[in-house]
Amino acid sequence: MQMKENFKSALLAGIALAAILAVAITAMSAQSAMSAPPAKTDPANAPKTTEQVYKNIKVLTGVPAEQLIPAMQFITGSLGVGCNFCHVEGHFDQDDKKPKEIARKMMTMMFAINKDNFGGHREVTCNSCHNGSPKPVSVPVVGDEAGKPMAAEAMAAPPDSEKPDLSKLPSASDVVDKYVQAVGGAAAIEKISTRSGKGTVTGFGGHKFPVEILNESPDKSAVVTHYPNGDGVVAYNGHEGWTAFPHRPSRDMEGPDLAAAKIDADLHLPIDLKKMFSELKVGPPQKIGDREAYQIIGLREGQSPVEFYFDEQSGLLVRQVRYAESPLGLYPTRIDYADYRDQNGVKIPFAWTTARPGGSSIVQLETVEQNVPVDEATFAKPPAPDPNAAPHP
Ligand code: HEC
Ligand code: HEC
Repeated sequence: MQMKENFKSALLAGIALAAILAVAITAMSAQSAMSAPPAKTDPANAPKTTEQVYKNIKVLTGVPAEQLIPAMQFITGSLGVGCNFCHVEGHFDQDDKKPKEIARKMMTMMFAINKDNFGGHREVTCNSCHNGSPKPVSVPVVGDEAGKPMAAEAMAAPPDSEKPDLSKLPSASDVVDKYVQAVGGAAAIEKISTRSGKGTVTGFGGHKFPVEILNESPDKSAVVTHYPNGDGVVAYNGHEGWTAFPHRPSRDMEGPDLAAAKIDADLHLPIDLKKMFSELKVGPPQKIGDREAYQIIGLREGQSPVEFYFDEQSGLLVRQVRYAESPLGLYPTRIDYADYRDQNGVKIPFAWTTARPGGSSIVQLETVEQNVPVDEATFAKPPAPDPNAAPHP
């Protein structure tokens, strides 16, 4: 039953490939016409197996030949590819495409997984991992807009054949220099000592709350959200970070959260980027919305890489993606910056969307003041919560 459904959806997914499929089926019927059609009612004349009908079967042996094409359709549906991803049309028996060889190994692996873990039941299939893409996505997909999950395809890596020649791209240093210029130049950036922004944050199921963002050079930051039942704070004082929600004990940031907070808090990020990482390397460019962006990957000891994307035209930072290491895998956070406006000679984003696999939130600032006094108390870490205190509801 399950299998039937799978084949049905594979068939539906394969509708676009109908033309190629028709060729294959024509080739097949020609083949079966040559051999005597098996009479299913006669037990002495058992249905032919794949290797009896086809020329080059190494893994899918011993199964009825009639299941071969459905198996192929299941593969194309699972990987979101056409038959020609693995085959040259008209020469299905040849092994001249690498993905075909990989597919054989995958089949063997899949059988072994199910044999070793699921008592031989076919629980894990190509689709369990591939989910419509030739390259399985090993990192959970982050949500797009508030509450809306993003299509897996949008995050899938391009096939090897489409990989750009990174040596032809501008160097990481050039991209960062262009970013500094785009923002207003190093001198203008250095003149900013504080920033105070007011606006709204939308997220948490579409709810909108007033928010205040405070920064002090070099890297102190506080985001204060005014909830109906009190203020929530996410703050970083240059070496420690913490989050606090109304009527809840504050929580210290650790490891990757802390490293990330330091980046977010940096008031002079454009001129500090090169100092922040031990190495900046060029990654494959990406399309973000309808615009091309250069990717620069920041590497540093003991931390997972951070990806920065810069608009190829404007030079401005449009996206940051970072990953928190966990025992189970990498957990991604993606921040998209938008609505850049000129303020005291520097361009700063008035809007940004922070997305994680569980959901996302959007900050939209309405007003920004710079070089105004900021209340130091905002960056004072609250006392450590009493571990014996009764938990708040
Ligand atoms: C991801 C790779 C992949 C895709 C996509 C794929 N195939 Fe295959 N195909 C294989 C592999 C691997 C074999 C050999 C299986 C084995 O050795 O057990 C094979 C074998 C075949 C054979 C048997 C050829 C012979 O004479 O030995 C036919 C026919 C075939 N595929 C048709 C198709 C058709 C039609 C499609 C599209 C609906 C398709 N395949 C899509 C990987 C693929
Ligand atoms: C347990 C997870 C898992 C299962 C099950 C699985 N795959 Fe894969 N497959 C992967 C991963 C991971 C990669 C990517 C490896 C890499 O990027 O080097 C991959 C890569 C491939 C590739 C190469 C794609 C490319 O772009 O070059 C092919 C073809 C493929 N798988 C076919 C299959 C087929 C067919 C099945 C089902 C028989 C299958 N896979 C089942 C995990 C899986």
